[in-house]
Amino acid sequence: MRRKEFFTALSVSAGTVMFAPFLVSCSKGSSVADPGTGGTPGGTVDFTLDLSLPANAALMTVGGSLVNNGIIIANTTSGYVALANLCTHQGSPVLYDSVNNRFNCSNTGSGHGSQYSLNGAVTAGPAPKALKLYNTSLAGTKLRVFA
Ligand code: FES
Repeated sequence: MRRKEFFTALSVSAGTVMFAPFLVSCSKGSSVADPGTGGTPGGTVDFTLDLSLPANAALMTVGGSLVNNGIIIANTTSGYVALANLCTHQGSPVLYDSVNNRFNCSNTGSGHGSQYSLNGAVTAGPAPKALKLYNTSLAGTKLRVFA
């Protein structure tokens, strides 16, 4: 192997090693289940998830959550909650914290770490405003999320 070929092969391998964990972590926790059905032209939020589908199974148990259409939906001890998925501070995704029954910004770095209640209100951190709260209704295994 010539010197140039060696370094080219080495850079591809190093890139694969360096970015592979990010590829895994990006897909974890931000799974977009089925695309849902519905949604109206003009961007009005109105979609339905079929909870009987394996892709939406996380919502069948209390403590589970998933992200669909930019909205995090959680099955909480108080019922289903749907909030805009991006922190109002600098836009990092929020995650459902089933232990504390709240939503936490995924950015836990210095100057971040916002927390939100189940209605989207800011309870800690630098976030300047609440997360948008969406309505939910369950009919059988069909969970509708709408504005
Ligand atoms: S981006 Fe969420 S607290 Fe900073």
